[in-house]
Formats: sequence, C-alpha cells, structure tokens
Amino acid sequence: MKRWTLRGASTAYVVGVPEHGQWASLVAWGPQAVADGPSLTEPVGTEHFLPRADVEPLEYAVRGVRYTSPTELVVSGPDGSDECRPVFVGAVQDEDRLELTFADALRSVRVVLHYRMPADLDVVERWVAVHNDGLDELTLHEHDSAGFVIPTSHGAVIRSLWGEWNSEFQQESITLRRGRFTVDSRQGITGHSYSPFLSAADAAAPDGTTYGVQLAWSGDWRLSADVDTTGQTRIQAGRAPSSFGLSLRPGASWVSPVAVGGCSTAGPDGLARVFHAYQRSFARELPRRVLYNSWFATEFDIRAEHQLELAQRAASVGAELFVVDDGWFTGRVDDKSGLGDWEVDPAAFPAGLDAFIADLGELGLDFGLWVEPEAISPSSELAAEHPEWVLRTPGREPVQIRNQWLLDLSRDDVAEWIWSSLDRLLTAYDITYLKWDANRARLDAGDRRRDLDGLAVGNLYTILDRLREQHPRVFVEGCAGGGARVDLGMAARVDTLWPSDNTAPLDRLKIQRGFLTGYSPHLMSSWVTDAEGTHDGRERSLDFRFHVAMAGGLGIGADLSRWTDEQLAVARRHVLQYREIREVIAHGTVHWLDGGVQYVGADRSVVFLWNTGDGNVRGTLPTRPRRVPLVGLDPHQNYRVGEEVLPGSYLLEVGVSPGDAGSHCLVVDPVG
Ligand code: DGJ
Repeated sequence: MKRWTLRGASTAYVVGVPEHGQWASLVAWGPQAVADGPSLTEPVGTEHFLPRADVEPLEYAVRGVRYTSPTELVVSGPDGSDECRPVFVGAVQDEDRLELTFADALRSVRVVLHYRMPADLDVVERWVAVHNDGLDELTLHEHDSAGFVIPTSHGAVIRSLWGEWNSEFQQESITLRRGRFTVDSRQGITGHSYSPFLSAADAAAPDGTTYGVQLAWSGDWRLSADVDTTGQTRIQAGRAPSSFGLSLRPGASWVSPVAVGGCSTAGPDGLARVFHAYQRSFARELPRRVLYNSWFATEFDIRAEHQLELAQRAASVGAELFVVDDGWFTGRVDDKSGLGDWEVDPAAFPAGLDAFIADLGELGLDFGLWVEPEAISPSSELAAEHPEWVLRTPGREPVQIRNQWLLDLSRDDVAEWIWSSLDRLLTAYDITYLKWDANRARLDAGDRRRDLDGLAVGNLYTILDRLREQHPRVFVEGCAGGGARVDLGMAARVDTLWPSDNTAPLDRLKIQRGFLTGYSPHLMSSWVTDAEGTHDGRERSLDFRFHVAMAGGLGIGADLSRWTDEQLAVARRHVLQYREIREVIAHGTVHWLDGGVQYVGADRSVVFLWNTGDGNVRGTLPTRPRRVPLVGLDPHQNYRVGEEVLPGSYLLEVGVSPGDAGSHCLVVDPVG
C-alpha cells in the first residue's frame, strides 16, 4: 500500500491507497504516534456477502465501488447508471497539502481528493473536486465533501448542537452503538435547528480522544454519523442533496465546500480548543471594541436625538462603538416595510447621518450600522422596480416570513446590486462596523434544476470576501435572526458572530457554553441587556450579566436611559476591566472548570465563575468554601489572584476559593 502522512501540531492523519488502486483508505488518525505503526482501522477477517469496499475504511466512498455501506458520491449519466469506479491515477504531496486523483474511463469522470493539514494546528481540511471529462452531462446525486473514518471500537458517543430561535447551541449527546444519526439544514441558511458540527468519541471512553467534523457551508447541508458492525464510526459531511441533483456539463468541474476534521486527546473540551485555534487562524487584527447596540432599547423607533442620549451614556461607561440596528432606513417603522430601500431615513436623522456620526465622534464613539442585504419587503420600491429579483418558485407566490421575501442571490445582477448598495453606504459614511443580519430561511426554490443553493451561498461569500478586501477597516458581525448562520464558512469571512437574541443571563450562559464547544470566543458577540429569561427566568445581578457577556466580545444592548447612576457605575467598572483583559478572552485557550471557565493567555489567565443558583446560595446551611482548581499554570510560579498571592502548585491542586458573590471575574497574573 502507498501511504501519505500529514502531520499537525500533535496529531497525524495517514491515508493509503492499496496496490489495486480502487480506493483510498484511512490508515490512521489521532495523536502523532498512531502514524508510526500498523493501521488502527484496517479490518481483519473475511467480509460476508459484501464487496470488500463495504467494510474497508474508505476515505471517499463512491457508489459503484461501495454498495451497502455509506457513500459520499453518486454520479449518474445518460446511460441510466449511477455507478462509477474511479481508480487511482496519482498523488501530489506538497508541504501541508495532499491531492489524490482517481479517474473512471467509462464514465469519464475524475475525482480529486484534497487534503490540507496545517503544521501548527490539529485539523485536516478536506474537500473534493469532480471533473466531467466526457461528452455527456452528468448528475451528482450525493456529493459530500468527505467521509471521516473515526477509529472507535465500541460505537460512539456523538455530540451535536441543536436549537431554535432564542435558544441556539443546546448540547445533545447520544450513544450510537450501531446505525445512523443525521443533522441537517434545508433552510438555505445554516439554521437555528442544528449546527454543522458533530463530534465522536469511543462509547467506552466518552471523555477520551474526541474527533469532530465541521462543514464550511452556510446553505443547505447534512452531517451524518454511522457506526458499522465493528463499532467503527464514519462521519460524512457535505452539501445536502436536492431532488434534481447537481448537473455537471461536459468539461465542467464541481468543487465541494471544505469539511474540517479535528482531533484531541483532551476530550470534547480539547476538541473545542482545536476548532478555536483553527478559527483564530482566519481572525484579522482589527480592534475589538466594546459596542453599544440600540436594538433592545429602541427596536424600530430610531430617532437621532434619542440615539445620542443612549450614546452619551454608552460612552460614559466606556463603550467605544455605537451600532444603530434595524430601523434607520426609509419606510422601516416596523418589520413590514423598507427592506431593500437602503436610504437613510431623514425622519430618523433630520440633520443627516454624517452629522450623527460626527456627534458620536465627539463622544469618542465609532459608528456601526445594521443591514439585511439579502432581504426585500414586498412593499419596497425595490420590489416594484425589480420584481424579477424576488426569489420565487415558478408560478407560485413567494413564501413570506417575518413579512419579508428574499432576493434571488443566485443571480449575479442581484449580487452586484447588493455589493454596490453596501459599497455605497460604506464609502459615503464613516462606518467601521457592519452588522449583517438575515432574518429568514430560504424556502422558495426557484427552478430546482439550477444549483440555487450553490450559487446563492457562493455569491454571499464573494460579497463578504469583497468587503474584507475593499473595506478592510470595517469589522463585520454575522447575525441571522439570532444564531442561524454560525459555521466555518462565516467564521472565515466575518469578525464576530451573534449567537442568539436571547441575552438573559442564565439562558445566555447555556447558549454560550454550547457555542464554545465548536466556535471560538473571539467570534462570540455578547451583550448585557435588561432581558428576562425565556427558559430560566431567575434574576441575576448586573455583575453576573456582565461576567457572562465578558466571556465573549462584550457589548451593551440595555436601555441605558433607564439605568441608575449606581448601575452605570457598575457597568463602567466592568467595561474598564474588560478592556484590560479582552486580548486574553479573544486569544486565550478555553478550559471549563467546575462552575466556570478559564481563559489561559500567554502570560495571564482570566477566570469566570458563575453561581447558577443550584447550591446553598443563601448560606443558611453549614458549608465550606468552594474550591475551583485552575489549569494551565506553572506550578513553580507564584500568582496574584485579587488581593492574594498563591503558588501555582496550590492553584492547580486546590484552586481559587471565590466568595459568596453570584459571579466572579478573577485575573490570575504571575508575580516575581
Ligand atoms: C434579528 C437580530 O438577531 C436582532 O439582533 C436584530 O438585529 C433584529 N433582527 C432586527 O430586525
């Protein structure tokens, strides 16, 4: 067997092609050592009543090579067959990349498996390119980016994230001893329902070595986990198949989105750090400012004078940026109108937006703006001018959600119009922050024979890439009616993501806990508001609310005009502390503790502890101080924690002992 080894920071991924060349298989994936001996995944013994390919750990299973076990690619042609038997043609390995090419002469199709494993990370990026080298049109019916073989022996504990609006990123786990578990989105957007992320650990050691797969796609997608009869797991990830399939014309090529596999010996928390490090590799060095956003305070009632009043208070507590949310443009008095007509409403800004931005500047605040570029209100001028731009199924009325339609972003003229509308705004005004919202699923299908999903997501990515390139100082926040567009595709193109519209303290803590299992804290936008809990309505102090929001990108969304001087003073204290520690939050490694989390930075740590109210909170029963052992410290170094100086060895063994307060933000600094 020919073998190729890709090496990451502490893990390796080894692929082989047997002499017969009929497939590529996974030789090993895991901590570096697994690359140095016999394969972990090679089946021994005889297969019964099955072709051999059905039990081999195939890297990319094609129908026609494999029949009964999961396949990633099904290609049909005009001969009425949906089988394909590509054989190995050659490999190219170059630094951290590997390309394996397979070709089927009868079907005239070439399949190239692409790999990239950056040397400083523990992820392997995988994608596939399918080329039609023949004279007939082909159709791809199943078209995953990759199949990841996960070397479990006893089945797997599969972890996933599910949710709905206002309660995204809820954690779920199931023990899959045999069979299949699938999560997906058919919403044309990543969706609130599931995150494109599955992880798997051997069912006999659920907190041991953990593998995870995420997909970089923000449209229709599908991830499945299968456990075979030997207890081995396979995770497939790719764009969701559609009724008509994807058509591949003679000479054309199709390239899948990237699926990313990660591995950590430190269980699910370690896997989260692996993905955080990967996502940080896209992060730009732009100032991460504490923002104030007007949405929860004023909703659509935008009036410059009132916004300025909020801005004065925001500036007084240390905010650095003021974002005007929905409601700033003509006709936008509620959610029934205005989308598409991106002109500043003179009623909201009588002296003009420039004057408002200048007033913010006087207060020391930068300016940011909300947009929902893919949407269109039925009553808008744009809808009257360009009815052909509205996405609809032929002969049917467009589906309305939140009183809005969608533009057909698969059209290049629509994409160009969206780009020029944004470009115009960003050029005309001093805007350094853009909140890009998307408040509905894409359900209208257009003509199903077109690859609407591929074209629309492709155009979305092109616009976001262009924004980065042509307006590099504009920090972009991705939002989708809360957290319906959080995925690797967006993580690579925006600077922060809005996880949920639920900002109530206890609900939010749970959402953030789930978010951080797959997505990095530098992407986690988080605001302090006055919101009451949807699920857990117990009240928590303002300190607690701040400590929840400070664990991500801190913002404030409360109605500050109603806050007392005392509340404003609390806010000021926290904002100032956050500005001191935000680098550690954005770049530190995340470690969950008993009742809290520790961000370990290059030389200091930040620890948040939250009393979620399940213990003896009133102190009416005898109790002993809670001890929370820390991680990531030097045992031979002394550290200052608040007023105390303690040895690293003590903090690692025994830990910190916070007082009775409902929450804490402790900064752990080395001394001496
Ligand atoms: C949904 C977002 O999640 C909110 O933060 C807000 O921007 C509204 N849309 C505005 O319509």
